[in-house]
Amino acid sequence: MGTRVIATVDRRALRHNLAVARARAPQSRVLAVIKANAYGHGLVACAEALHEADLFGVTDIDEAEQLRQAGCRQDILVMQGLIEEPDAGRVLNGGFQLVIHRQEQLGWLEQALGRQRPRAKLTLWLKLETGMGRLGLATSELSDLFTRLRRQPWVADVVLMTHLASATTPDAPLNDHQLLQFARACQPLAEQTPQTSIAASASLLALDCSGDIVRPGLLLYGVSPFAWSDLSRRPAHFDLQPAMTLEARLISIRQQQAGDSIGYNSRFICPAPMTVGIVSAGYADGYPVTAPTGCPVLVGGHRSRTLGRVSMDMLAIDLTDLPANIGDLVTLWGPQLPLEEVADHCGLIPYTLLTGLGPRVRREYR
Ligand SMILES: Cc1ncc(COP(=O)(O)O)c(C=O)c1O
Repeated sequence: MGTRVIATVDRRALRHNLAVARARAPQSRVLAVIKANAYGHGLVACAEALHEADLFGVTDIDEAEQLRQAGCRQDILVMQGLIEEPDAGRVLNGGFQLVIHRQEQLGWLEQALGRQRPRAKLTLWLKLETGMGRLGLATSELSDLFTRLRRQPWVADVVLMTHLASATTPDAPLNDHQLLQFARACQPLAEQTPQTSIAASASLLALDCSGDIVRPGLLLYGVSPFAWSDLSRRPAHFDLQPAMTLEARLISIRQQQAGDSIGYNSRFICPAPMTVGIVSAGYADGYPVTAPTGCPVLVGGHRSRTLGRVSMDMLAIDLTDLPANIGDLVTLWGPQLPLEEVADHCGLIPYTLLTGLGPRVRREYR
């Protein structure tokens, strides 16, 4: 049986986008965010393609260990920090860099250090809560903690980081507020020249606030984090190259009559005689069930549209007046059909489409 759903990942595009990130902040080091299976593109393969990154960011110790076991020798930052106490020993074993967002996590680390020697001195990232309302130390906690950690013999370096909540809306007042909070918190430590890290994709592309280490994720995959309606911030504007093409097979073609109902709950009724194709991808593969009739697809390079509700393993498309054969590949997104546009049709952000791709989607690399 041929492959039902194929995500083809273009390694050259990944490397190109990494170069775009570097050019945006030439003085900074680049941490390539490859968490969540490299946003659905495949963790290990993307780490290999992006080996010129200065370090990698993953969500948790499982992903960090997976990279090490695959032979990755670069520095790896565990971005969500320690989830539970035993994770501390695994960080010491793996020699990973670690985000600290609660003081209790340091206690776990110190206990683990009482039991075992770290593989190497540790680089800790202190995450500051500056207005995101999510994770992080209070700015008032920073100064003492930073100074105390810098004196520890087991600490190699301490990086100060924060994450912006509204960077996809560059004019949002919250951006300035967060940057000011961060600058104020770091100011008393200026003489100790701490490393800082602020920018992810949106801030790297639209704000001037990089820090010493930038943390792009989405842009590495050639996808713009900005709203599709924001015409001046589409991927081509930033010279981003989409890395993934998602395709599935045409497994049925039928002539339907006016009044015929297509798919679950008769969400689409043919208004006239139509040719309807069935494509071998559904929501169990990660194609969103929220896709309405009219979501764009490409058939042999021609634009068409989805019809009715997406099923678990398949979806219907309009093939009226289009040349197509059973077995043809239909493009669901890719360089000729922007993922951002599909996400916009579905009322979703591009991140969810990429990270939602199911395990049965075959990844191929070229
Ligand atoms: C702390 C942090 N830094 C960087 C990133 C990368 O963000 P983006 O994919 O928008 O570049 C994320 C993504 O969730 C994050 O949580």
